[in-house]
Amino acid sequence: MERFGVELATTEKGTRVSTGIKSLDELLHGGLPRGSITLVSGTPGTGKTILCFQFINAGITAGEKCLFLTSDDRITNLLNQAREFGFNFDAAVKAGTLRFLYLNPEKRTLHRELEEEVQMNQYSRIVLDSLTPLSEMPIWVISRGTEIIPTDDAMTNSPFPIDSIQAMRVHLRRLMGILKSEDCTSLVTSEVPEGSRDLSRDSISEFIVDGIFVLDLDPTMDRRKLTIRKMRGTKHTLKPHTIEISERGGMQLLL
Ligand SMILES: Nc1ncnc2c1ncn2[C@@H]1O[C@H](COP(=O)(O)OP(=O)(O)O)[C@@H](O)[C@H]1O
Ligand SMILES: [Mg+2]
Repeated sequence: MERFGVELATTEKGTRVSTGIKSLDELLHGGLPRGSITLVSGTPGTGKTILCFQFINAGITAGEKCLFLTSDDRITNLLNQAREFGFNFDAAVKAGTLRFLYLNPEKRTLHRELEEEVQMNQYSRIVLDSLTPLSEMPIWVISRGTEIIPTDDAMTNSPFPIDSIQAMRVHLRRLMGILKSEDCTSLVTSEVPEGSRDLSRDSISEFIVDGIFVLDLDPTMDRRKLTIRKMRGTKHTLKPHTIEISERGGMQLLL
């Protein structure tokens, strides 16, 4: 790090963003690369949402502007769930430094609304929890793949129907493109089915993102694990690390 002292001083903000988990930051040489998108993949109950809470909490603590995109329309439940882990987001929501936004996959203007939200506010951190309902929404791609709309609006001569991999690719690239910016670091979760070896439900996102965390359960050993599968520009171990989840302070890695 010494070697980059000058560069860090001039860019001020530094090139790494804390995940909110000290031990994970250590494995990542300081944290996530600024401006990166990391996929958090795992079966239900593996701790994806808790990891997102922790990441957002770190942002709020650092006085950053954060956006939590959720596919759950019961935002109060989400706030209550966060509170169980000692994360009280109410003050940040009131102060306007944290926004929870429900993404309705049925809404045909979803991409445009999300784009406006992200462009109008300079967020430092964005969480998208979870990508799965969005990767299952009915979409059609029109105008040479630059615009995406759900079937409601679909024209009979649309080139790519929902079941085409091209349409899904355009849709996911568009979503990730909206999140992607030099100063904004994101976590995007994906639910994989039990027993699957895929890294996301859609099998496409893992190729678009900069980093991948895999969360896992080992029921026989009564253990949870986190593996860093990929992280752009970062030398990291591929070893699964045992994690512990507690009421105070959320998730911790045992190094
Ligand atoms: N207070 C707690 N202490 C320890 N583990 C907990 C606690 N609360 C929830 N958990 C564990 O965390 C899991 C939920 O994590 P969550 O982040 O919601 O999973 P995911 O988003 O991957 O579905 C629960 O299934 C439970 O095993
Ligand atoms: Mg969840």
